[in-house]
Amino acid sequence: MHSFSSAIRRINLRVLFSVVFLGSLCYYAGWLSHWPAPQDSALEWKDFEAKRVTITVQAPQATVTVIPEAEEAVVLNGSPTDTFQDNLRHDVRYITTWPGNGFTNEAMSLMNLIYLAMLTERVPILPAFNPSHLSGGSPDTGEVVDTTFGKVFDVPRLAKELRMPILEWWQVKDRQSTTVDSLGCWNVWQATMEHSSGPQYSATPGKLNIDISWTIAPKWVKLKPDAANEAHAKFTGLMALAFPEQRNRNLRTPSKSPLLGLSVPPNEQLLCFNNLYYTANVEGFEFERDYSTAWRLVGKHLYWNPRIEEIARGYLRRTFGLGADATIPPYITIHVRHGDFKGACHIPPDECFAPLSAIARRVDEVKEELQRLKDITAVHVILTSDETNITWWEEVAAYGWYRIDHSATAPTYGAWYPVLIDTAIQSEGKGFVGTDRSTVSLITARRVKEWHDGVVRSVKWGKVGADDH
Ligand SMILES: *[C@@H]1O[C@H](CO)[C@@H](O)[C@H](O)[C@H]1NC(C)=O
Repeated sequence: MHSFSSAIRRINLRVLFSVVFLGSLCYYAGWLSHWPAPQDSALEWKDFEAKRVTITVQAPQATVTVIPEAEEAVVLNGSPTDTFQDNLRHDVRYITTWPGNGFTNEAMSLMNLIYLAMLTERVPILPAFNPSHLSGGSPDTGEVVDTTFGKVFDVPRLAKELRMPILEWWQVKDRQSTTVDSLGCWNVWQATMEHSSGPQYSATPGKLNIDISWTIAPKWVKLKPDAANEAHAKFTGLMALAFPEQRNRNLRTPSKSPLLGLSVPPNEQLLCFNNLYYTANVEGFEFERDYSTAWRLVGKHLYWNPRIEEIARGYLRRTFGLGADATIPPYITIHVRHGDFKGACHIPPDECFAPLSAIARRVDEVKEELQRLKDITAVHVILTSDETNITWWEEVAAYGWYRIDHSATAPTYGAWYPVLIDTAIQSEGKGFVGTDRSTVSLITARRVKEWHDGVVRSVKWGKVGADDH
């Protein structure tokens, strides 16, 4: 046996293995055996078992074929150019949008943009965030805060998971460029919101020195054609405008651009829309629905930039009083939005908003479910809120809930980092209690469920006892 195995080592093991394998096949087929070939299908295995000779040979080592990662698709001519057109490749089609909302709603608009890019087989170009509710926002160092999409989210990972190229505007047009580019875009806002007098405002085109001439989109892009002033447009309607037949059929006089006074039809190579926040397939506010295409196909793949995650972990450790390398225990976050929601209250705020006792009941439900279903004991609870009332925060402390100290955040990182850090912290928790009707809460809840199979609840508000259940 010894000399046999040393002999076979000298032969190519792969060849030997094939011979043995084919040999056994033939053996079982009766070709090499003295026993007659099976006559019928009633052949019994034990007949073979009894007569089988087993030869053990060293199996060949598995061959691992390393497939190099698909080369990143080249979808631009090169480095950022003064005028964006110079950087667009003639054989590639692009799509972009101009958002103008709060941070989370802009992120949702861009998820919608990327989904629309899939539907139209175009390369999305993502604008930087424009946190509309934060003016200036520079840290004490005076440096300009970089609000590009990729500073916040992990674009390489997104592109890889979606298997599609994804661009950002800074890669296309030089940030220092003062060249004014003319561009024709579809005005979806005025197609859906018939009573509005102009396109929805966005600071993005101005920052990029892009001078837009708008063509009001056809009425049929509306999700509900019969509802006046209902902002939602249909994904499929916008999709159709990406192709020549419907585009050409629906051209009409474009508006004069604000800077150059040019009237230009919607650009065919670089398709652009406003108002993508309100885009849906079947019903309004689809991010709330289980079937949400923009969430399932895009949003859930949109992870934080590792730098943001690292900053968030630093805040968590300090909040919990842990050392720099300590493991962060499983925790629950609460997001209470008051601020601008006061405008939706028809009764005094302290009757309109859910009391802390109602929030605590939800926290207990999350704790109980984490323990029961996942054997996770979550002791640490963090409350994040835009509330400024000191008395209210004192009541929060009485519940033993942590509060993140953001007193140094804006001076260190810039004015919109408290929101970024809070949201990143929320989405890393095992449990989450959100505010009903808040898109921040909505997206965080989806992240906690999707990324950690976590437990989430939402607190209702608007009247006394709104969240009673
Ligand atoms: C501040 O919070 C306390 C406790 O919730 C509440 O009683 C009070 O009315 C609040 N004050 C204002 C100005 O909203």
